[in-house]
Amino acid sequence: MNETDLPPAERIARLRESLARHDRLYHREARPEISDQDYDRLKRELADLEAAHPELAAADSPTAAVGDDRIEGFVRRRHRLAMLSLDNTYSEAELRAFDQRLRKLFPDSALAYLVEPKIDGVAVSLTYENGRLVHGLTRGNGVEGDDVTANLRTIADLPDRLRGADHPRLIEIRGEVYFTLEEFQRINAEREEAGLEAYANPRNLAAGTLKQLDAREVARRRLHIVLYGFGHCEPEVFQHQSEVHPRLRDWGLPGLERHWRADGIDAVWSAIGELDALRAGFAYATDGAVVKLDALSLQAEAGFTAKAPRWAIAYKFAAERAETLLRAIRIQVGRTGVLTPVAELEPVLLAGSTVSRATLHNEDEIRRKDVREGDTVVVEKAGEIIPAVVSVRHDLRPSDSRPFNFPKECPECETPAVRLPGEVAWRCPNSACPRQVRRRLQHFASKACLDIDGLGEAVVDQLVEKDLVRTLPDLYRLTRGDLLRIDHFADKAADNLKTALDRSRTAELWRVIHGLGIPQVGATAAKDLARAFGDLNRLAEADLETLQRIDGIGEKTAHGIRAFFNEPANRALLDDLASAGLRPSPPAGAAGGDGPLAGKTFVLTGTLPNLTRPQATEKIEAAGGRVTGSVSKKTDYVVAGEEAGSKLAKAERLGVPVLDEAALLKLLAG
Ligand code: IVH
Repeated sequence: MNETDLPPAERIARLRESLARHDRLYHREARPEISDQDYDRLKRELADLEAAHPELAAADSPTAAVGDDRIEGFVRRRHRLAMLSLDNTYSEAELRAFDQRLRKLFPDSALAYLVEPKIDGVAVSLTYENGRLVHGLTRGNGVEGDDVTANLRTIADLPDRLRGADHPRLIEIRGEVYFTLEEFQRINAEREEAGLEAYANPRNLAAGTLKQLDAREVARRRLHIVLYGFGHCEPEVFQHQSEVHPRLRDWGLPGLERHWRADGIDAVWSAIGELDALRAGFAYATDGAVVKLDALSLQAEAGFTAKAPRWAIAYKFAAERAETLLRAIRIQVGRTGVLTPVAELEPVLLAGSTVSRATLHNEDEIRRKDVREGDTVVVEKAGEIIPAVVSVRHDLRPSDSRPFNFPKECPECETPAVRLPGEVAWRCPNSACPRQVRRRLQHFASKACLDIDGLGEAVVDQLVEKDLVRTLPDLYRLTRGDLLRIDHFADKAADNLKTALDRSRTAELWRVIHGLGIPQVGATAAKDLARAFGDLNRLAEADLETLQRIDGIGEKTAHGIRAFFNEPANRALLDDLASAGLRPSPPAGAAGGDGPLAGKTFVLTGTLPNLTRPQATEKIEAAGGRVTGSVSKKTDYVVAGEEAGSKLAKAERLGVPVLDEAALLKLLAG
């Protein structure tokens, strides 16, 4: 029997069970297994059944709840005004029915609405008291959320203080935290290289990031925020929702790119059309429009149902989907040996571009969806998100189809693959595997690393094929004669590449650190490490504790670095790079090695009696120390002068030693 033909009581029970599971995956674990649209469809089916069979309704049904994102490890706080969700619809008719209901309530009014993008991020509520950010909460269960203030403070666009003096004494400002598509792709690529599970989309990554217990790990990812509304506000300062956006901007908060005031539902519908045409250009992903009554007095009159306002509705854009043939599953070998399965698709047009490949992430993912070669699959592209295989048309499966067997050996060098405990990925453990060698060289030469002009992927491929290069240092031993053996390379190309290679011998240190391909170390961490150590060998020798004391380096990264340099082959690589003539340039102000303050981190606060802040910074850096802007457990000293503020208080709370100017000078003198 088909699932949907079950007796209502049974179908309701199944739907509740399945929705509860998807709620957990989405809200608490940030790894949903079905698309939002499929989730909404299940929820709608349950709501319809419950409406048709009121005797089967239940207070704890997923249709009655807002979801719950609270997890262990965070302090919980109550929202002053509850954070509810919105009713949503994919249908124009239902949108018009929403307007009709409101017009019945307000018969004389020509209803003015505000149409806003519905941001596909993670909801947060920020409390500003007397213009200062005091805490930031997740939605939680709507009534009480997790206090994620420390994580939110890592967001560069989020001011600690509201600009100007014209703000209410106490206000909860509501918005969404998100990642740009580029940052999402950067982090996922790093995760896949490290053998970790990739996040399905930027929203899940943002949810997972906000729930990191170590704010330093959060700081390594560039989160953004956008604010669009408010909760509790004392005294009340707004009469219309449309006043909120310019005010938020005046206070220095990042706001919506666009919003539309629309008189009547026809104007709303055309604004939604405009939004759909524009939204691909927004910094954040959007999955619909939120339509709100503009006048707050009317909002108050319309009121709420148990979980959502009657004065607002979300109109969601359907994700574009297409069906196509999965021709083959190919295994890609990454630079750290991770084996990533990729679906080769019969090219299909989807949301304006032709899609011919989609990542399948890892073996578990293939097994969970039971994806097979020769299947007809449904691919989806939601907004500007990369295409994903969302499901398989089991009804169209050829009768001779077989489950996909993830290869147990490297497709390139045939070395038996290994799967390390705690990792989702299989790896080729042979570091001399030609595919890995190529990828390592390509990474090293890429723009984000040594940026070696003329050493693109095709040239690397030939250097490896012709056995001219096996390791990174081999690059620096290439002669002009070697380079002339590359296809289509005449004198000029060879000379240019030789010059570029020679120039890269003194590249900035962080580029070399990034280029080594240390697990977990991207460009940002590489810059932090370069600044902290100023030298490759000192980095290689640093113990776990020293690594973890560096701002921006969390526990996982520190372990990744240690594991990398514990490999004798990687230590030999450093020696070999040095003897091939690589002399990376340390950044100005890097921990200068032998100074009396080498490796120490300082924070300056208040006004010192004699030294200006730049002078104090210069002295500390010249002695090998580092000056940062915020106090954490990793701060060695806080130097405090007159009118020192919250940084001093924080130092005292964390037990960080506090120096005055005289004590600093003594320390500088060694
Ligand atoms: S207003 C009483 N406006 O979508 C609820 N919400 O599915 C008022 N969201 O809970 C919410 N963009 O987390 C509002 N422009 C926008 C939004 C927006 C995204 C989120 C928010 C809300 C959820 C509802």
